[in-house]
Amino acid sequence: MKKHPATEAIHTGEFRHHQPSTSSVPPINMSTTFLVDPDTPFSANLLGEDAPFIYTRWGNPTLQLLEEKMAALEGGEAGLAFASGIAAVTSLMNYKLKSGERVLVSDIAYAGVREFCNHYLRKMQIEVVSLNMSDLNVVEEELKKGAKLVFAETPCNPIVRLTDIRQLADLAHQHGAMLAVDSTFASPMVTQPLQLGADFVIHSLTKYAGGHGDAMGGVVIGSKTEVNKLRATVLIHQGAIMSPFNAWLINRGLVTLPLRMRQHSDNALRVAAYLEQHPKVKRVIYPGLMSHPQYELALQQMKLFSGMLTLQVDQPQKVLARVKEHLQTIHYAVSLGHHKTLMYYMGTESLNESSFQLSVEQMVDYRRYAGDGIFRISIGLEHAGDIIADFSNLLA
Ligand SMILES: Cc1ncc(COP(=O)(O)O)c(C=O)c1O
Repeated sequence: MKKHPATEAIHTGEFRHHQPSTSSVPPINMSTTFLVDPDTPFSANLLGEDAPFIYTRWGNPTLQLLEEKMAALEGGEAGLAFASGIAAVTSLMNYKLKSGERVLVSDIAYAGVREFCNHYLRKMQIEVVSLNMSDLNVVEEELKKGAKLVFAETPCNPIVRLTDIRQLADLAHQHGAMLAVDSTFASPMVTQPLQLGADFVIHSLTKYAGGHGDAMGGVVIGSKTEVNKLRATVLIHQGAIMSPFNAWLINRGLVTLPLRMRQHSDNALRVAAYLEQHPKVKRVIYPGLMSHPQYELALQQMKLFSGMLTLQVDQPQKVLARVKEHLQTIHYAVSLGHHKTLMYYMGTESLNESSFQLSVEQMVDYRRYAGDGIFRISIGLEHAGDIIADFSNLLA
C-alpha cells in the first residue's frame, strides 16, 4: 500500500522483516566488497537485474536504501546515487547522448551544468541548444529539428524562473525526445516531475535532501530499465560513486525532509514579504509571492514554494560591504537547502561571461528576473524573526 511521503521518508528501504534485536536505525555498511558465491560473474557487463552485492562501486546496501527512498519520494521506479549532483547530471548526459546528437538545455541552469554543456558536450561533438525552457514556442521550434534529450531545471538556479513540466514533457514526447528535470530547488515535497510526465528527475542531494550542509551527493530517478542501464554503462565505469557514509547522512536528512520543507517554505514566504516592502529593495523574486512573473504556474506545479528567493537592491556593493559586520544569523556562502540561511551575490555580466554565455535576446529575459545582479538567498530553518532582523541590519 502506498504510504504518505512523511512515512515514506522515514521507513522506505529500511526493513523488510521484523526480527528481534535488529537495529531500528539502519547501520552504515562501509564494506567495499562482499562475500560472493564462486559462480558470481566478475564483469559488470554480466550483472543481472537482481545481482547480489559484489563491490561497492556496483552497489551497496546503504546506497540502495537511499536510492529506494528517493525513488519512493518522487514516485519513480528506481534511483541511482552519485558522488555529487553534478556527477548525476553529467552521467545522465553521458549515458543518453553521443556525438552528432542534439540536446536542448535550459539557458539558465546551475552554472556548473551550463559550463559542462558549453565546454565538454560541445567538445564531444554533441550539439547543445541553449534555450529558455519557459518559452514553449521556442522549445517546439527546436524540437522540430530533432533532439534526443531535453534538460530543464525548475525553479532554475539562480533566478528562480519556472518551467511548465507537464507541457514540456508532452512537447518533448510528441517529438521523440526524453525529458530530464533537475528539481534540486524544489525537492520531492514541492514538485514531483515524474508525475507530471518527465522521464528522469535529478537532485543535488547536497542541498535540501541532505539538508544539513555536511554531505555531497546526487541522484537520478527514472524507470527501472533506464536506471539499470545508467548504472551498468556509466556509473560503474566512470566511478562517481557516493560514499556509503554520505548516503547514511543523507538518509538521516531525508527523514525530516517533509517537515523541513514546510518550515523552509513558511520562513521564505515571511522573509520575502518583509523584503518586498523594504524601501531599499528593488525586487524580490519568490514563487510564493503574487509578484513572481509565473505565480499561476507556481500554484499549479508547486505544493509548497520552497526556500529559494532572489533579492535586488540599488547598490549591491554597499550591501556587500556591510556583510561581514552586520550578519549574525545568515551565512554569506554558496550552496543552498541547508538548515542555515545562506546568501550569495551574483553579478549578471560576470556570471554570463563565466558560465551562461547567453545571446542578446536571452540576456533580456535574464535581466527581467535578475537586473544587474541578485543576492541568491536560501532561507534556512532559523526563526524567521531572526533572519528578518539580519536583513534589517544589513539593509539599514
Ligand atoms: C540545481 C542544481 N543542480 C545541480 C547542482 C550540482 O550539485 P553538487 O554541488 O552536489 O554537485 C547544483 C549545485 O549548486 C544545483 O544548484
